[in-house]
Amino acid sequence: MKNNLLNEGYSDKNKLLFESGYKDFIFTQKKRYIDIGFCSGANLLGHNLSFQDKILKNYIKKKISNFSSPNLHAQHLSNNLKKILNNFSKFIFCNSGSEANLKALRIARAITNKNKVVTATGSWHGSVDQFLFKSDTKLKNVKLSDGLSEQERKNLIYIPYDDIILTKKILDKNKKKISCVFIEPVQGCLPNIKIKSYLKFLSNYCKKNNIIFVFDEMITGIRSNMSTAQKFFNINTDISTFGKAFANGMPIGFIGISEKIEKKIKSKKLSIYFGGTFSGNSFTTYFAKNYLDFLKKNKNKVFKYLNGISNEFEKKINKFCIKEDLDVKVYRYFSMLRVVYSSKNIHDRISRDFFEKEKINKIIEFKRFLKKKGIYYPNNGIIFFSYSSSRKNINYVMNTFKIGLKKFFS
Ligand SMILES: Cc1ncc(COP(=O)(O)O)c(C=O)c1O
Repeated sequence: MKNNLLNEGYSDKNKLLFESGYKDFIFTQKKRYIDIGFCSGANLLGHNLSFQDKILKNYIKKKISNFSSPNLHAQHLSNNLKKILNNFSKFIFCNSGSEANLKALRIARAITNKNKVVTATGSWHGSVDQFLFKSDTKLKNVKLSDGLSEQERKNLIYIPYDDIILTKKILDKNKKKISCVFIEPVQGCLPNIKIKSYLKFLSNYCKKNNIIFVFDEMITGIRSNMSTAQKFFNINTDISTFGKAFANGMPIGFIGISEKIEKKIKSKKLSIYFGGTFSGNSFTTYFAKNYLDFLKKNKNKVFKYLNGISNEFEKKINKFCIKEDLDVKVYRYFSMLRVVYSSKNIHDRISRDFFEKEKINKIIEFKRFLKKKGIYYPNNGIIFFSYSSSRKNINYVMNTFKIGLKKFFS
């Protein structure tokens, strides 16, 4: 088929063009794959389940439409969110994680009137000009796209994830100019759960120095037993951004602000622009509200199963790698997992890339092997399981991983 798209991936010769999905399978016109990516973690419950059919049928039956105006369905969803995310006083709806992060940055800059933004090595905050960089080994910004402004490059400061001493030095040097510290609490590039003391340090530092503390909970939000990473680590943030699994595959992004931030916006009489044709659109908000009702009703069952299979995958693959002396290790935060192709002591993206560099070709071959065996391992390397991931398929995925890891990494 002729390709008219310039979006990433479409010009690849060996691309897969997916057409449909059901439970834990996704389909091209030619082949069925077991999904272990679930729309980059958005489809927490899986693809096309019967409860979703019911919501969509009701949406049509009730003749709900989109209005680009305040609507009842957005209000209803916000009531559900308030129960799950009770540490926030207000929410702002948008349509993607990137948009939520862009607007969260705008809030931080409006309140502080400062331009410098601090993020951690290995963080990913979406397609946002201010964040489309990565850091090199010397913590210098390297752009990930053409078309970015030099000003944005200068305004972004990297701190080394999980390194309190060097982080403090960098923050001390810049603290008067920093509007916010913007961080993924647990990173997709290395889901390291032993990060509480680092996050606590950042939170305390920000409080002491009047810096706005932001968590990007796009991946972690709702994944931890229908709660957040900030609750899991018992750390408060000023602003947090969410999306993905809050709508089980429908496009969503939103921001939660604390009472302190709401008061600042009011007392400074700030006028911050949040608008957008589809912000709080009734299709997504109606769907998400009913999905969250379903999830709440089935919470214990869903998360027990989801955490159980994810834990089993992590433990069994790691045990196998130790037994077979493979230089590979699985990291996990609830149902988000990552195979890191090194068992060395890795604490951030920079060290991960350093140890994985020599294995790049093997990793590509391993991914090809999985694809041949009917397993779709997502390009971003983050494995997500869903409530639809069946025991049978998880066992098949584990056994195939074991065969492949031994074949390519012995
Ligand atoms: C932590 C994090 N932040 C932001 C984003 C961007 O979200 P979106 O792709 O919905 O714009 C992602 C997407 O993968 C993410 O993982």
